[in-house]
Amino acid sequence: MNDIVIQTDKITKTYGSGTTEVHALSNVDLTIRRGELAAIMGASGSGKSTLMNLLGCLDTPTSGSYTLDGVRVDGLGKNELARIRNEKLGFVFQGFNLLARTSAVENVELPMLYDRSGRKRDTRALAVAALERVGLGSRLDHQPSELSGGQQQRVAIARALVTEPALVLADEPTGNLDTHTSIEVMALFQQLNEQGITIVVVTHEPDVAVYATRIIQLRDGQICRDEPVKNPQTAARDLEKLDRSSA
Ligand SMILES: Nc1ncnc2c1ncn2[C@@H]1O[C@H](COP(=O)(O)OP(=O)(O)O)[C@@H](O)[C@H]1O
Ligand SMILES: [Mg+2]
Repeated sequence: MNDIVIQTDKITKTYGSGTTEVHALSNVDLTIRRGELAAIMGASGSGKSTLMNLLGCLDTPTSGSYTLDGVRVDGLGKNELARIRNEKLGFVFQGFNLLARTSAVENVELPMLYDRSGRKRDTRALAVAALERVGLGSRLDHQPSELSGGQQQRVAIARALVTEPALVLADEPTGNLDTHTSIEVMALFQQLNEQGITIVVVTHEPDVAVYATRIIQLRDGQICRDEPVKNPQTAARDLEKLDRSSA
């Protein structure tokens, strides 16, 4: 099995043309291996979302190559990208992006219903298992409005996991959550990562990045820093400390 999940070679994204040209990303070389929990950081406007959209096959680069889980994806058309996304990626967003008036289990079943590969699966059983994995086995029939922000984000994480993607991409997953809930989400990411799931989290919050195994910093569309973290903080332990100090 290929150990490299993401490989970009001089990936570049330019918006607009002529005098309005914006170089959102310039010549980014990035390799992410299976089992990493990488944080992509950077100030507003540094290119984080642009990179996320390219890595997530939601957009195509102006130039450069991108190989995702062994498949060269730059230059593919919309339909092929959609198929690759469905097969290889799970997404978690800042705003959860759950369907309203739809139960947790139905939300988690959705990516399997969009799958056109024709394989037969017990989508409900898989969705239930994914929700149990994120600790929501007792909230299967709750609608998003009946769940806290942290619980909604866990439903979204279950939805990202249910197709067994090669990679989970999370864009500011804690951006709408308070400190305690943010650490809970990172504890869940660390737990899933220990089970072998590869995760890339985009965040501008240093407090969130301390839980990553690697920190990649963007500045003006280029990687200005890329370092492994020797001893990442353990989110579960930080939660215990927080709970003790507030008890
Ligand atoms: N669709 C777009 N059209 C034109 N410029 C864009 C577009 N999206 C982003 N940009 C520009 O590209 C740069 C990087 O933006 P972005 O990737 O959103 O950064 P970040 O997510 O780090 O805040 C910024 O200068 C932004 O204004
Ligand atoms: Mg952004």
